[in-house]
Amino acid sequence: MLEKLESIQTEALEALASVSDEDSLQAWKVAHIGRSSPVMDVFKSMGSLSKEERPVVGQQANQVKQALEAAFEEKAEMLKQAAIQSSLEGERLDITMPGRTQVRGRLHPVTQTIRQISDIFAEMGFQVYRSREVETDEMNFQLLNFPPHHPARDMQDTFFTTQEGIIMRTHTSPGQVRAMREYAAENPKSPPPVRVILPGMCYRYEQVTARAEMQFTQIEGLAVGHNITFGDLKGTLSDFARRMFGQNVRTRFRASYFPFTEPSAEMDVECFVCGGEGCPVCKQTGWLEILGSGMVHPTVLRNGGYDPEKYTGFAFGMGPERITMLKYRIEDIRNFWRNDMRFLEQF
Ligand code: DAH
Repeated sequence: MLEKLESIQTEALEALASVSDEDSLQAWKVAHIGRSSPVMDVFKSMGSLSKEERPVVGQQANQVKQALEAAFEEKAEMLKQAAIQSSLEGERLDITMPGRTQVRGRLHPVTQTIRQISDIFAEMGFQVYRSREVETDEMNFQLLNFPPHHPARDMQDTFFTTQEGIIMRTHTSPGQVRAMREYAAENPKSPPPVRVILPGMCYRYEQVTARAEMQFTQIEGLAVGHNITFGDLKGTLSDFARRMFGQNVRTRFRASYFPFTEPSAEMDVECFVCGGEGCPVCKQTGWLEILGSGMVHPTVLRNGGYDPEKYTGFAFGMGPERITMLKYRIEDIRNFWRNDMRFLEQF
């Protein structure tokens, strides 16, 4: 019996040596340490042994069983490690491979300028009001105090549509009337104060040159309320210039003419290219014209639903392309809408 146990062990270990996968390991377990394996048969036949043989064979059978169980555990662990190893090797990452670079998007330079200007006016309490690009002739001209055949209309060559009286807006100023009317509608007897800026695209039927495009943006501003004075206009716009072009920049106001403001003024800032010395950018004047402005004409206030006896206001308009051109010394306005990535990628 003892010899038989020895050969059971030897055969079982030999069989285990050739096991190399999980399925045959499980089959080996059933055959060699399972309920009807040779070792277990030895236990079952113990009844037929003599009293002297029984403890000796029993002890030996136990040892064989434990040895086989231990060998099974060891083999199982080996197979597990081998499986991990082969999956690591099969899925190995090559960290030296070059990465794919992502092309980063960016905002159009004019959009950047519009946002910068909007942020400055937002800090001063102005809200952004979006007005339409397709306008009526009435809004674009008549309600802004351009009489029907006024020569000032010639300043703004208009794109007409096939629909009578409907045009592409030539400036953002008609948004003034729309904004005032919307505010006034809230309380027609005593309209609330207005503080808005109106950014947006404008269109003019013009010969396209390095200095003029037929499509361009403007930012309009409007403040209406009680006791608003020309001093408020100057203070607000000079403060804007300092925030936009630097704390030390000097400004000057020159008298001008617009039908929808009275009095009207244009604001210049000291040339930030030459510091006022005179250079090609400021055409040797030392000053750069930045915007048009003025006190809102009484007729325009009335058209917006604000009684000019009780309310006053100021307005201004500027061209973000022009400001962007001055800032980066861009010499040709046509670059902005040409969509040449080599130009746009610089900003
Ligand atoms: N609308 C004028 C233009 O297109 C710009 C302008 C000038 C707007 C004076 C204003 C203003 O609000 O007060 O040239």
